Amino acid sequence: MPHEVRGVVAKSRGAKVSIETVVVPDPGPGEALVNIQSCGVCHTDLHYREGGINDDFPFLLGHEAAGIVEEVGVGVTDVGPGDFVILNWRAVCGECRACLRGRPWYCFETHNATQKMTLQDGTELSPALGIGAFVEKTLVHAGQCTKVDPAASPAAAGLLGCGIMAGLGAAINTGAVTRGDSVAVIGCGGVGDAAIAGAALAGAAKIIAVDVDDRKLEWARGFGATDVVNSRETDPVEAVRALTGGNGADVVIEAIGRPETYEQAFYARDLAGTVVLVGVPTPDMKIELPLLDVFGRGGSLKSSWYGDCLPSRDFPMLVDLYRQGRLDLDGFVTETIGLDDVEEAFAKMHRGEVLRSVVLL
Ligand SMILES: NC(=O)c1ccc[n+]([C@@H]2O[C@H](COP(=O)([O-])OP(=O)(O)OC[C@H]3O[C@@H](n4cnc5c(N)ncnc54)[C@H](O)[C@@H]3O)[C@@H](O)[C@H]2O)c1
Ligand SMILES: [Zn+2]
Ligand SMILES: [Zn+2]
Repeated sequence: MPHEVRGVVAKSRGAKVSIETVVVPDPGPGEALVNIQSCGVCHTDLHYREGGINDDFPFLLGHEAAGIVEEVGVGVTDVGPGDFVILNWRAVCGECRACLRGRPWYCFETHNATQKMTLQDGTELSPALGIGAFVEKTLVHAGQCTKVDPAASPAAAGLLGCGIMAGLGAAINTGAVTRGDSVAVIGCGGVGDAAIAGAALAGAAKIIAVDVDDRKLEWARGFGATDVVNSRETDPVEAVRALTGGNGADVVIEAIGRPETYEQAFYARDLAGTVVLVGVPTPDMKIELPLLDVFGRGGSLKSSWYGDCLPSRDFPMLVDLYRQGRLDLDGFVTETIGLDDVEEAFAKMHRGEVLRSVVLL
């Protein structure tokens, strides 16, 4: 019997989201039905609502979630009813060329549920990032369910499902920050602050937070920034160099996704240093850099998809660090809200008032 539940749907480009009855099928082979307990509001949900990702309206929004597995389909053995899981949007296939080379975090054939969730009139929904979790129950591929310690708070654990994992992983996995490094993070929203927390966890000696908003810089200190730069008032490249003996930082993480801040990241890094782009640009954006500087400054320019995470490796480990008090996931939860409050949460995100609003169900 299909399940009829309440969910947050974006029906057309730019229109406000609405609460709709969502019809969720019973799990088929390889699928899992999950009772959602928490789902964070990520900038990407707003991108979907604005038509910035694609035109496959209507969308079932939400993708940064934790919950309890209710039922699994035929052939599912890794998770079962009652398991506390974080949902991931990169269920690796194990068979593509990236997986076969032993680099599954780059998997090119990630899995999603085969069956579609619909509106009551049968209209198929496009679930955000193949999840769709601003809803009481959702249907995903079983590989999208990663079991973690059930003692963790769902609101905190769920954040690892997207932005916070992306930021932590940008520092730890992609940037390979290590003991004694100097790190600069440009853009201190949820993703940038997670990169700061990741750099601190990895033993960076100096962590410079750059943002245009003093409130964000204050929060960044709480996650481990040793120095802060308001780039509305001070040239960030000069400031990062001044704070690093005139050299620039070993690793610079761009967590906004804009050409001008990418260029700042490029020049704020030391010779042979690393730039990590974790912010997501829009299709119209371009950068222009002197090719001689790209060559002459050496090092590496990297992008970070989902923090190059491997959910089965990283989620349980990070939840353990959280439970031990070594990773402040609660600090990212600015407020908890209901399903009806998602539209208002977008407005607060737009005004810079929150790191994360988290829907509790
Ligand atoms: N790579 C991934 O897998 C992944 C995953 C999740 C989110 N993201 C992306 O990461 C980016 C950040 O997400 P978020 O949730 O932290 O967003 P956010 O809006 O909460 O944070 C952005 C921050 O950048 C600051 N900022 C804006 N313009 C600036 C400028 N010119 N100079 C300095 N600071 C500036 C803002 O004040 C804000 O603090 C987004 O592009 C999002 O789509 C990427
Ligand atoms: Zn693969
Ligand atoms: Zn997201």
